[in-house]
Order: sequence, then C-alpha cells, then structure tokens
Amino acid sequence: MSKRFYITTAIDYVNGQPHLGHAYEKIIADVIARARRSLGQEVFFLTGLDEHGQKVQQAAQAEKKNPQEYCDALAADWQAFCKKLELTNDDFVRTTQPRHKEFVQAILSKLNDTGHFYKATYTGFYSAKEETFLTEKDRRPDGTFDPSYGEVVELKEDNYYFKLGAQQQWLIDYIEANPDFITPTYRRNEVLGFLKNNTLEDLCISRPLARLNWGIPIPFDPNFVTYVWFDALVNYISIAAAHGDETVLAASGYQPSTLNSQLALWPADIHVIGKDILKFHAVYWPIMLKAMGLPLPKQILVHGWWQKDGAKISKSTGNVVDPIAVINEWGLDAFRFYVLRELDIGPDGNWTDAGFRSRYQAELANGLGNLVNRSLSMLKRYRNGVVPARSNELAADAAKAADETRALFKQSQLQSALQSIWGLVNRANQYVDQTAPFKLAKDPAQAQRLDEVLYNLTETCRVLAVLLWPFLPGTATKIYAQLGLPGSPDKLDAATWGGLQAGQVIGDPAPLFPRKDV
Ligand code: ME8
Ligand code: MG
Repeated sequence: MSKRFYITTAIDYVNGQPHLGHAYEKIIADVIARARRSLGQEVFFLTGLDEHGQKVQQAAQAEKKNPQEYCDALAADWQAFCKKLELTNDDFVRTTQPRHKEFVQAILSKLNDTGHFYKATYTGFYSAKEETFLTEKDRRPDGTFDPSYGEVVELKEDNYYFKLGAQQQWLIDYIEANPDFITPTYRRNEVLGFLKNNTLEDLCISRPLARLNWGIPIPFDPNFVTYVWFDALVNYISIAAAHGDETVLAASGYQPSTLNSQLALWPADIHVIGKDILKFHAVYWPIMLKAMGLPLPKQILVHGWWQKDGAKISKSTGNVVDPIAVINEWGLDAFRFYVLRELDIGPDGNWTDAGFRSRYQAELANGLGNLVNRSLSMLKRYRNGVVPARSNELAADAAKAADETRALFKQSQLQSALQSIWGLVNRANQYVDQTAPFKLAKDPAQAQRLDEVLYNLTETCRVLAVLLWPFLPGTATKIYAQLGLPGSPDKLDAATWGGLQAGQVIGDPAPLFPRKDV
C-alpha cells in the first residue's frame, strides 16, 4: 500500500462562525489537494474543529449552553461551510470525537510511562484568553501585558509538564538541515531566531479540573484535563490512527475498536497553518512527535493574515468579510480565485471590495470568461459547433503554461500558477484580436485560416479547463461541458495539446462570469 499525500489545515476553534481567514486556509489546502490529485497522486486531506479548552467553554457559557451541545450545533455550520467551499476533504475531525479522545489518552499514558512528564507547582500569571502562562519577560516596557492577552490573573497551581529543555539543539539542527521544513524562508528564520535566542521552557500540558473541565481527562490523574494545544495538535495523527496508519499505530500502541480503512498517511506532507500558530507547529509539535518516536511532517506551510480595508478583521468592530455572502453574490469560483490570486502564501493581505470587483471584472469576466465565450460562440456560429482539423499555432504557449503549472503545483506556488495560467488567457485573447476571426468569416477564401484560428482557440479553452480545475473546479467543469466533453478536467496529463478531436461537436456556450455593472 503506497503512502498517500497527506495534507491538513489547522483545526479551528468552534467559538463562532467561519470567517475569511478560515476560508482562505481551507481553500489553499483544497487547491493543493486537488493539484496533487490532478498530478496523479493519491491524497488525504484533513480539516476539522478544535472543540475543547477555555475559549470554547466560555463561548458556550455565554450562550448558556452545555459545551457539547454548543459544539454540535456549530459543527453542523462548519461542515456546511466546507461543502459551500467545495472542499475535497477526506475526513472532518472534531476533537470531541471518541476516536480522537481515546488516542490522545493513549499518547498521554505512553509519554507519562516513558518519563516525559513531571508534576510541579506553578506560581505566576495566566491569560485565559490565549490560554497561556506569562512571565515577567512578557511584560511591556510600561509593566502591563499586551491587550491581546485579555485579563491576566495571578495564580498558583499544580500541573503536569512536558520536558522540552533538552530538545532545542536537535530541532535547530533539523530545521537547518531541512530548508523546506518551514516555508516560506522568513518564517523558518523566525523559528530559528526564536530557538537560538531563547531557552525553551517546559510545556504545561494539563489544566486543573477546578479551573477548566472542558477538556480530555488526563488518564493518570482524574483531577486534570489536557491542555487544549496538546489535544489539538494530536488530531493530525489521531485521525491517521483512526484510518489504520501503521506507523502511528505502532508508535502509540493504540488499537482502535473499529477499523474500516487501512491507509498509510503519516508523516504528513503539508500542514497548512497561519503565522500566529507557527511556534506550536514548528517547535512543540516536532518535539512531541520525537518523544512519541514518530517522524516529523515534511512541511509546515505558513500563510499570512487577511485584513479588511487595512484594519484587523474583527467581529466586535464589524470589520468583517462574510465569505458566504460573497459566494452567494459572486459565485464560489470568484471567491476562490480572488483569495489565491490576490495573496501569495506568506505575506499578509488586504481585502477590499473594490479590489475584488476589479479582479472579477478584469480577470474573470473580461479575461477568462470572454475568451471562452467568444471562442465557443464563434465556433458555433461559423462552424455549427464542429471542431475543425488540428492546428498548432498556440501549442507552444499552452505547453509553456502547462509545464509551469505542473512545476508550480509541486511547489505549492499557487499564486504563481495562476499568473502563468493567465499568461495563456491573455495570449489567447490577444490572438483573437490579432487574427480577427470575425473578419476572416466574411471572406470565403479565408475558410482554412478561420478553421485554424478556431481550433487554436477552442483547444486553448480545453487546456485552460484542465489547468484551472484545482482552483476553479466548477468553472473548469462548465468549460468541459460547453466543449461537449464528457467527464471532468481533473487530470493534468490531459493538458497535452491536441486533445480536442476534429469533428467533435461542442455544447452550448454560456457566460462563465456574468458582467456586473457597478
Ligand atoms: O488557532 N487571516 O484556531 P483559530 C488568515 N484551534 N488566517 C487566519 C485569520 C486571518 N485574519 N484569522 C485566523 C486555532 N486565521 C487553533 C489551531 S491547530 C492544531 C489548532 C487562521 O480558529 C489561523 O492562522 O484561532 C489558523 O491557522 C486558523 O485560522 C485557525 O485559527
Ligand atoms: Mg486564533
């Protein structure tokens, strides 16, 4: 059994409705998953929800709900959201599921038995909002803590700690020896800088029941529940175990009560995460995995944060983008296109409604949409929709875009892939202007030339559908249908020039991206 390409997103706190940032991360992962499938690989794509911890408990309390009922109701919305985005995730994890909880407990017992934990008394400061302990070092020059920590309280309590102290040097060596482990490079440098300039403090992995009960009970001490991050990170392997991954099952000693599949998943190929949770993924998670005797993920792919109109997205100030409203108004593919075309994976981005409209108009309606619509309409009008004999005038342009896209898919360079694909869109639109088929059609002596032009345009539309499928699955499928082709353009090998056969009869052209007058 061959190992699948295993890609994950962060699991989101279920303390509200999904927003633009969540949608963005899921779309990145979905496009990479589809791209890999298009390349012919077997893929497993996991997303889901982080349901335990103080944030969720407080959100449930605020609505006077029991936390499980609160999570169950919201989880339905989040799963519907994944459908709305047309994600091709193979599973959806919820950390309150027995398959996850049992696995976390198995890991905790194992790490405890092998001497990775100790119990100690902590006296210091604690931020409930960020669920994190703070020290004097975290104070700002004026003595206060950053407002992002919310209310900071002083406390004294017993807890369990995971030994991190001795782990710093191997991790530095590993990151230095594996330049692709943390991408992009400036995020990698950030982690290296942190590891080289700080001493790692042991990680508190428990919370006393008296303070928090919404968590996974610590199996060896009923007075504690598991710290939410120790629980959440483990989802990446608990779900692999639930699908019968031998590597994870052997290391954990865990045996699921039922096993319906037997997939080889671990190590993950890509964890897609946002910049704010880099330390958890690039420092704590590798150390946890090493302690469990498991290989590290191959890559942590770190995206930036969206703002709207230059300011932080925030529910309380109302500065939000509602992905569902945008999708309902403009269509899913326009939304998927904008977030990936506007923002490369790495830097922060800024959503503006004007910027969205302008890309819609220029690149989707006037660019891709117009190309496909006029190419197919001319074939219909001048040749009754029958594909003429093969011609290769745009073959080299199409091959260039296909080769570049293939290479960029393997690098998860999604924005660059879109730029390359639009190079072909623009070239073909320019070809229409240069060859002027509407003039050729008026001159019977130019019939053969018109055939050539129409073949080149129609075949380019077909190649574009194949290249675009991971990004714009609905649009790509529509292009195939309008071309009268069966199936979906979901394999990159089909981008080879010459796929359209002479004599093939196309379907009915219809606008892909209706122009909106603003
Ligand atoms: O951190 N722009 O959950 P979360 C882009 N449960 N991405 C954004 C964003 C924005 N404005 N806001 C949030 C958690 N995100 C934990 C993760 S993983 C084992 C546990 C991203 O709901 C954020 O960077 O606060 C993160 O990757 C994801 O949304 C979930 O954030
Ligand atoms: Mg967050």
